[in-house]
Amino acid sequence: MCGIIGYIGGNDVGDILLKGLSRLEYRGYDSAGIVLIEEDGRFDVIKKEGRLYNLVGPVHDRAIKGCVGVGHTRWATHGRPSDVNSHPHGDASGSVWLVHNGIIENYRELSQSLVKKGHRFLSETDSEIIAHLIGDEFSKGEVSLHEAVRRVVSSVRGSYALGIVHRDFPDRIIAARHGSPLIIGIGENENYIASDVPAIMDRTRKVIYLEDGEVAIVKKDSVKVFDLNGNPVNKVPCEVNWSIEEAEKGGYEKFMLKEIFEQPKAVENTIIDRIGPKGKTVTFDDMEFYPQQARKLRRIYIVSCGTAFYAGYTGKYILERLTSIPVEIELASEFRYSDPKLQSDSLVIAVSQSGETADTLASLRMARENGCKVLSIVNVVGSTISRESDWVLYTYAGPEIGVASTKAYVTQLTAFYLFAIYLGEMRGDISSGFASGILDELKNIPGKISKILEHEADIRKCAKSFYKAESALYIGRNFNYPNAMEGALKIKEISYMHAEGYAAGEMKHGPIALIEDNYPVICICTKGKTYEKMISNIREVEARNGQVIAIANNGDSIVREIAHNVIEVPEAMEELSPLLNVVPLQLLAYYVACERGCDIDKPRNLAKSVTVE
Ligand code: F6R
Repeated sequence: MCGIIGYIGGNDVGDILLKGLSRLEYRGYDSAGIVLIEEDGRFDVIKKEGRLYNLVGPVHDRAIKGCVGVGHTRWATHGRPSDVNSHPHGDASGSVWLVHNGIIENYRELSQSLVKKGHRFLSETDSEIIAHLIGDEFSKGEVSLHEAVRRVVSSVRGSYALGIVHRDFPDRIIAARHGSPLIIGIGENENYIASDVPAIMDRTRKVIYLEDGEVAIVKKDSVKVFDLNGNPVNKVPCEVNWSIEEAEKGGYEKFMLKEIFEQPKAVENTIIDRIGPKGKTVTFDDMEFYPQQARKLRRIYIVSCGTAFYAGYTGKYILERLTSIPVEIELASEFRYSDPKLQSDSLVIAVSQSGETADTLASLRMARENGCKVLSIVNVVGSTISRESDWVLYTYAGPEIGVASTKAYVTQLTAFYLFAIYLGEMRGDISSGFASGILDELKNIPGKISKILEHEADIRKCAKSFYKAESALYIGRNFNYPNAMEGALKIKEISYMHAEGYAAGEMKHGPIALIEDNYPVICICTKGKTYEKMISNIREVEARNGQVIAIANNGDSIVREIAHNVIEVPEAMEELSPLLNVVPLQLLAYYVACERGCDIDKPRNLAKSVTVE
């Protein structure tokens, strides 16, 4: 997630911005930059791809000291990581400079009016458009800088936290927020803006939290906040008494929990901009996968590892439901050493959060050597897998810091729904009514995930009922079979409880032998074509005195009657149910691990990114 810092006051601006950015590193980034402005209007922009230390030399060697500046760590979304795509971005005249966190949904639309006026853009980012728009508005000479910002942000759709400076107004920073966090730090004759508290905690603990739709003028000795209608808003600073570590997690105990709670936003960001204006079609402006390519496909192979493999497994169910293409799901570590009969009309889909997993990368290379095209579903923009693929469908989960993958998984599923609808429509495999029904439901998913998260306390209680068990069984069918495996993986990796994820229909073929008094069986039993079958499986567990923990739809009295514990989730189309049902599984794993006193964000023996075989 991008990080923003801004400073105005009498101390060394460059140094303060660099220190602030280093405190934002935990958010993940691929490039960084700062702009500083001197009282006489001279300014310096220093921005580089890669780590923050790339800025240190140039910032220390610079000719000017500055009295105001803003800085940024970038987590690429629109445009790959590069010096030129790094922030700050300037307007056409080089007077306005800004840093941005968020995604501007209508940036293409907004850029068209600028292009007609002769504007040329240097970067591939959505953020640069905002700088040009502000410069354009301000250059009309009718309004103040903050009024120009207010006008521009009123025309923007999407999310933003913005820090804006102007070389002719070195006495102020303009800050604006909608949907992305931004705070103002209050110092003694100096003030700050930042994405979050850790960036400024060593300098001040007095902060103002900007709300959506607020625009602030931050000077060294004053802060004025306005709403989008230009009315003043009275803000009272609060005192922060957290430790830096607590602050980085935004009040959550662990990064994993924070990331579980970020899922509604992550899904929203992944679908944003990709659903056509009438909500009936999928468009990929960021991926040129043409209809003729969709029509000629005869087979799809999905390759990935771990959680990404289970996302791919669900992807197989999704693609086979929405298209007429046969789909094979393969563990990348096996695929690379196997002899798949790859042909030029096969498509290989590589799924990876990091985009660096060694086996997934090797599988991708093997597929391309065999004449196959590769599409990757990747979270980290500019990663090796994304660079070596023919097409990339980015998930917009933002950086995942907890070792156990959560928000990456739901966004990978989301990407599969979008791609399957796209293929299904292009090939004439599904009706537009069916496609728009799924898209409508997809748009409701973030709200439904939020509803599940509201019942976190009940899930915690449920985790307490079996955290001492040595082992657990997770069962599901059809769309939710891969979810059962994902639930079992999650609890294994962070709580070290042994768990098996099984297709419920396989119970009688072996695992039922495990069930004895109080043995925990987590049953995914939401409405769909295998619902009755799952009820029978639950009865089988119950008949052997196992402890049934069921994931069921709100108000399902049948399941409530037979299960020991029920975690309720809202109803959804069966095809989309994995997006909801996985959330309680993640929370169950999380709270079992809490009860067992495990180091959740850094489970033993595991690394976030497996770049060796
Ligand atoms: C489990 C987990 C791992 C990863 C796997 C693939 O919670 O995080 O199983 O899913 O190592 O990693 P990526 O997606 O980066 O290729």
